[in-house]
Amino acid sequence: MVNLGGFIVQLKVNGVSRQVASEWQNENLLDVLREHFGLVGSRYSCGIGQCGACVVHVDGAPLSSCLTPVGDVADKDILTIEGLDSPNGDLHPLQQAWMDEDVPQCGYCQSGQIMQALALLQTNPTPTDEDIDVAMSANICRCGTYERIRKAIKSAATVMQEVG
Ligand code: FES
Repeated sequence: MVNLGGFIVQLKVNGVSRQVASEWQNENLLDVLREHFGLVGSRYSCGIGQCGACVVHVDGAPLSSCLTPVGDVADKDILTIEGLDSPNGDLHPLQQAWMDEDVPQCGYCQSGQIMQALALLQTNPTPTDEDIDVAMSANICRCGTYERIRKAIKSAATVMQEVG
């Protein structure tokens, strides 16, 4: 990669080292993921961090990628929906549960929903309905799939408990 400004941002995205050239450092992480790395699972929606469609994990914590300059996540581990399945292609229990429960309607919000659900299950492996509603409250679904999301999270929680 040509370093035009003498500065490169290093990232690790889904376990792969990536470099961001100096001229991109003030672009938001979402645009860099989508436009430069081709990882289009994370979606742009409200642009003000209030809908959850762009949620990715940064060093294990959920973050609105539409609000985050890529320079602010230098040297950090980024996990997107594309990095959730295992190297052999097996779906993550959350992805499988989303399919089993037929959660998506239009699908636009769902990658953000799954990444937020992952953050919940990493801190609370056996959430109640109320825990789920609180944890997922910043993720908006215009199609109203909330009941199926709740079911899928509980189903994935059970599988994740079983596999440890
Ligand atoms: Fe359509 Fe959530 S499935 S916005």
